[in-house]
Amino acid sequence: MEQITLSAVLQALMLIGLISNLFGQWLQKHVSISRLLPWKLPKSKDASPSSEESISKPIAESILSTCKDSQHPCAHSLATLLQQDGAGCWPPRTNHAVSSWPAALRPYRQIWDDLSPLIPTPNSSRLLDDDANKRRIGHFRCLMRENLAMRIDIGQVMEVLEDDTPSRLGQDTVNALYCCLAMLRHGYRWAVIPAVKVAQLETALDIPSELGTPWKLLQRRYGLKAESSNLTGTILHNFTNEGEFVFNINAGMPEHLQKCEEHFCRISYSTETLALPIYNEMVQAIVAFDRSDKAATLRHVENIYPQLGHVLRVFYDTMHDGHVPRSLWLSHVQSFQAWGLDRVNAETGEKVRDNGVSGSHLLFFQALDSFLGIDRYLSHTDLLNSIPVRQRAFCEALKKHSPRGRLSSGRAAGVANDGSADLDPMIERGFSKIAERLKVFRAAHKTRVMPYLSVPAPERLPMTAGRSVLKGGGDNLANALEPLRALLVKRHNDTV
Ligand code: HEM
Repeated sequence: MEQITLSAVLQALMLIGLISNLFGQWLQKHVSISRLLPWKLPKSKDASPSSEESISKPIAESILSTCKDSQHPCAHSLATLLQQDGAGCWPPRTNHAVSSWPAALRPYRQIWDDLSPLIPTPNSSRLLDDDANKRRIGHFRCLMRENLAMRIDIGQVMEVLEDDTPSRLGQDTVNALYCCLAMLRHGYRWAVIPAVKVAQLETALDIPSELGTPWKLLQRRYGLKAESSNLTGTILHNFTNEGEFVFNINAGMPEHLQKCEEHFCRISYSTETLALPIYNEMVQAIVAFDRSDKAATLRHVENIYPQLGHVLRVFYDTMHDGHVPRSLWLSHVQSFQAWGLDRVNAETGEKVRDNGVSGSHLLFFQALDSFLGIDRYLSHTDLLNSIPVRQRAFCEALKKHSPRGRLSSGRAAGVANDGSADLDPMIERGFSKIAERLKVFRAAHKTRVMPYLSVPAPERLPMTAGRSVLKGGGDNLANALEPLRALLVKRHNDTV
C-alpha cells in the first residue's frame, strides 16, 4: 500500500514537473515582461483579468494539486504557503471589494478613503517648520482617532476576526484587510508625507485600539511580531487579483507622483508573480534529487536560469528615473513605508526597534539564497518581525534540502551507482549560473539604488524604510550611507 502511494506521489510529481516545463516554455514564448509593467495594465475595474492572474493561477493550481498531499517538506511548505497565506495563489489573492466585507470591517476602508488624501503634500519645502509640522501631525492623528472611535465597533470587529468558521471570512478578505490596517497604521504613524524630522524623532507612539487590537490578532495569524507592516502587507496585498494597485498614498497628488509610487510597488508584485514558476522548479529539483533522479534535478535547475532573467528584468526595466524618478521616490514613496519606533518584547522584556518595509523582505531573494546555500541576509530579529512564518518555513525547507551542498558527497557515498553522479558537475554548473545572474542583480541594485538615497531632503533626517533613521552620519549624508553601501557590497561578494 505504501509502495502504491509512493509511486502515485512520484508520478504526480513527474507530471507537475512536465507541466512546469511546458509552462516555463510557454512563459518564455508568450509573455512579454512589458505586459506585467504598470503602464500597460488595464486600469478599468471591468477589464478582463490581466496577465498577473493568468500567469499565477494555472501554476498555483498545479502546485497545489500535486504538492498539498506530498510528504516532502519543500513541496509541503510551498503548498501550505499558497493555500493558507496566498488564498490558493501567489502573490496572495486579495478581496478588496469592500461591499462584500462584513459590515463591521467596512469602515476601515472608508476611513482610509476619507482621510488619506490629507496626508501627502506635493511640496516638501512647506515642511521645514517643526512647530507647524507638530501641529499638522497632531491634527491628523486627532482626526483619525475621532473617526475610528465614531465609526468602528471594535467588539464587532473582533467577533468577526475571531470567528473560525472558514466560510465567514475568506483568506483573500483577511489579506485585503491586513493591507488596509497596515496603511491606516502607517498613515497614523507619519501623518504627513514627506516624513518630517519631528515624526522621525519619536521613539514610541500610542496607536488607537481600533488599529491595535485587530493588528495583534492578524500578526499572530501571519506569524509576525512587528508593530510595523512588511512588504507582504503593504505591497503584495496592495493589488487586486487582476493586478490593479489599490491603496495609493499619494491620492489626489499630481499624476507623476502617483505613477512613481505605483511603478515602485509593482516591481515587488511582478517579481513575485514571475517567481512562482521558479519556486516550483526549486521544489521539483529537490524532490527529484531526493529520489536520486539526477537527470530531472539537472533539468529543473537548468529551467531556473532563463526564468530568473525574466524576473530580474522587472527591476532593470523599472528601477530608473523614467519610471521611478529620484526626485520623488525618497520623499513621496519611501517615507510612508518606514516605521522606526521602539517596542518592548513581551517575552524577553527587551526593547526592540521595529523597522519598516524593505526590498529584503521579498520572498524571491530569500528563497533563491536558500536554494543556493547562501547565508540569509536578514537578522533573526528582522525575520521574526517582518517575514510571515510560512514564508520563513518555505525558505528553511529549501535551505535544508537544497542539493547544492550534497552533490559531491552524493557521489562519494555512491548514492547514484548508475553513472548519474556524472551529472553532478553539470548540476553544480546550473547552480553557479543562477548565482552569477543573481550577483549581476546585486551589482545593479547597489549601483541603481544608492543615488535614490542621496537626494537632498531638508525636511527629514537620513533614513531608509528598512533600517529607520541612519546613525553615525551626523550631518554628512555620505557617511550615513556608507554602512549601507558596504552591506550591499558584502552581499554582492557573498553571492557565489
Ligand atoms: C530606490 C529603491 C531602493 C533602495 C534605495 C534600496 C536600498 C536598499 C538598501 C540600503 C539595502 C540594504 C539595507 C536594508 O536591508 O534595507 C537594500 C537591501 C535589499 N534590497 Fe533594495 N532598495 C531599493 C529597491 C529595491 C527593489 C525594487 C528590490 C527588489 C526588486 C530590492 C531588493 C533588495 C534586496 C533583496 C535586499 C537585501 C540585500 C540582498 O539580498 O541583496 N531593493 N536595499
